[in-house]
Amino acid sequence: MCGIFGYLGKKDPLPICLSGLKQLEYRGYDSSGIAGLSGGKIHSCKEVGKIVGLEKKLSLAPMRLDLAIGHTRWATHGKPTNSNAHPHFDMDTSIALVHNGIIENYDILRDLLKKEGVQFTSETDTEVIAQLIAKCYKGNLLAAVQQALPQLRGSFALALIHKDHPDEIIATARECPLCIGFDDQNTETIVSSDPNAFLSSTPNVIFLRNNEIAQIKRNQTDFFHLDRRILTKKSERIDSEFKVLSKEGFEHYMLKEIYEQPATVQKALLGRLDDENASILLDLQIPEEKLHRLRNIWILGCGTSAHAGWLGTLLFEDLVRLPSTMEIASEARYRNPILTNDTLVVAISQSGETADTIAAMREAKRRGSSILGLCNVKNSALSREADSTLYLNAGPEISVCSTKAFTSQITVITLFALYLARLKGMSESQMRYYSSELKKVPAQIQQVIEQASLLQTIAKKYAEYDDFFFMGRRYMLPTAMEAALKLKEISYVNANGCPAGELKHGPIALINERFPVVAFCSNIQTHEKIASNLMEVKARGAPILAFAPEGMESIAAIADDVFWLPPAIDPLAPFASTIAGQLFAYYIAKERGCDIDQPRNLAKSVTVE
Ligand code: G6P
Repeated sequence: MCGIFGYLGKKDPLPICLSGLKQLEYRGYDSSGIAGLSGGKIHSCKEVGKIVGLEKKLSLAPMRLDLAIGHTRWATHGKPTNSNAHPHFDMDTSIALVHNGIIENYDILRDLLKKEGVQFTSETDTEVIAQLIAKCYKGNLLAAVQQALPQLRGSFALALIHKDHPDEIIATARECPLCIGFDDQNTETIVSSDPNAFLSSTPNVIFLRNNEIAQIKRNQTDFFHLDRRILTKKSERIDSEFKVLSKEGFEHYMLKEIYEQPATVQKALLGRLDDENASILLDLQIPEEKLHRLRNIWILGCGTSAHAGWLGTLLFEDLVRLPSTMEIASEARYRNPILTNDTLVVAISQSGETADTIAAMREAKRRGSSILGLCNVKNSALSREADSTLYLNAGPEISVCSTKAFTSQITVITLFALYLARLKGMSESQMRYYSSELKKVPAQIQQVIEQASLLQTIAKKYAEYDDFFFMGRRYMLPTAMEAALKLKEISYVNANGCPAGELKHGPIALINERFPVVAFCSNIQTHEKIASNLMEVKARGAPILAFAPEGMESIAAIADDVFWLPPAIDPLAPFASTIAGQLFAYYIAKERGCDIDQPRNLAKSVTVE
C-alpha cells in the first residue's frame, strides 16, 4: 500500500517526482525511492522514513535523469529497510519497478524463479514482479508485461522502466488506483496513484481500469489490455483543487484541522438546510421513489469512517425508523449479506480510496444495491463508482489521524437521515426543530475549542498512563470508540473503547488505579446508567475523567476530573464530545513527544486489503 509517481517530459523529472511523492505521502511513509534512466543505465536512490530523508540524500548526490518513477511505501511484505524500499529491480538492474498492492502468490513465484537461478535481494512481493517481467523480456517491454502479469494473483498498480527503453514508462493496474495525466500540449506525462498529486500542471486525466496497460512514450501514450487488445481511452479534464498546504501557524496539521471544525461543519451544512420548506436539499442521483421504498441501510467504512457509520445507524433508527447496520468493510466483503433492491448501501470514506471499502462497495453493487458514497475527495475511486456521492466539503485533511472529516461525515449522515425522515413523514415542526439544533453545532464546537488549554492541563495529568478505557452509551458509544482510536493512533497508548454497561461483563477485570476510565456522559437518556457504571469502576480504584454536559452534577460527584461540554440533544451530542476527545488525544500525544501528524505504522489512505 503505497504511492506511485512517474514523470516523462521535458523538465527535470527529479524535483517533479519528489513533489509528487510528497503529495502522496498520506499513502505511507515507511520509506521512499526514485529510479530513472540516463545514459542507458538505471540510477536510483532510496531512503528509509519520510520523503524529506530521500530529498536530503538526493541533494547530497543529485541524479541527472531523462525520466523517473518514484514510490512512497507503507510496508506490507518486509520491514521498512533500504533493501525493501521501492523501486525494485531484476537481477541485472535492467528493470526498475514500483508497486502499490499485494501479490498473493508471490511466494510460489519466488520459489519457481529461485529454482531457475534468480537471486533476490529483498523480502518484498514486489521484487518478484520485476524478476518475472525480466524473465519474460525478449526486447519488447510491453509484451513482457503482458506475458508476466497474468501469472500474478492479488492487486497491483505498477510503473516500470527498462534500461533499453529510454523513452518509455509502462503503467498498469488491477484493483488499485492508477491514473495518467497530460498537459494540454501533450509534452508532459505523469503516472500517479492519485490525480490530486499532479492536477495543477497536467489537468487531463485517464484512469486505468483493471488489467489495462498504459505505454507512455514522449508525446504519446497508448493503451492496451493485458490480453493484448488495443484500447481507445478518452481523457477527462479535471479542475485542480490544488492548494499550497500550510499549517497556518499551528504546530501540527492535526491541531489546525481540529480548529477548523466550526467552519468545516458549517460548510457541510451550507446550502443543505431549507428552512422555508422544512426540508433538506441534497444533490442525490438516486431516484426519490427508490429512497422512499427503502427497507434497510447497510453502511460500510473503516476506522474513523466506520465510527461515523455507527452513529449513522442510531440516527436512521431514531429519526427514520429504518433498520440499518454498520459493517466494517474488511469483513463485509466476505460476508453473504442479504441485500435486496430495497437496500441502500452507504459507503463512507474520507479518501474514497480505502481498498476494503471500495471492494465491499463493488461487491454490494454486483449484488444489485444502490450505493451512496460519503466522501471528502473528489475524483476518488469511491466518488467515481458510487451511484451518488455526498461530499463532505471539509477541504484536504493532511494529518493521518482523522478529525474534521469525522465531524463532517456525521454532519452529512445526519442531514441524510433527516432527508429520509422527511420523505417518510417527519412533520414540518420536527424537521424545523432538528434544523435549528443542527445550526447550533458549529458554536458548540467553538465553545470546546476555546477551552483547549483546560484540556491540555487535564491531558498532562493523564499522559503518564499507558492503559485506558473509553466508555459511553448509545450516541456516546461510537463517540467513545472514536476518541479511543484517536489516542491509540497518535499516542501509542492502549486505549479501548467499550460500551459502559458491558465493562462489568469482563473488561472490568483489567481495572486498577493505573487504568483510567474516560467516560462520555452526554447521552441524556442514559445518564443515570452511566453514573452507576462510573461508580463500579471508581470502587475498583480507576482514575475517572468524565466528559459531561454542563449541569450534570451527578457525574461531578463521582469523577476525579470533569470537562464540561455545551448541552446538545442526544443525536447531536457527539460533535462537542468528539472535539474534546480529539484535543485530549492531541495533548497527550504532545506530552509524550509523539509524531502527531504522521504516527508510526499508519497511513492516511490504506489501499491494500
Ligand atoms: C486509515 C486511516 C484512518 C481512517 C481509515 C479509513 O486507517 O489511518 O484514520 O479512518 O484509514 O479511511 P477513509 O479514507 O476510508 O475514511
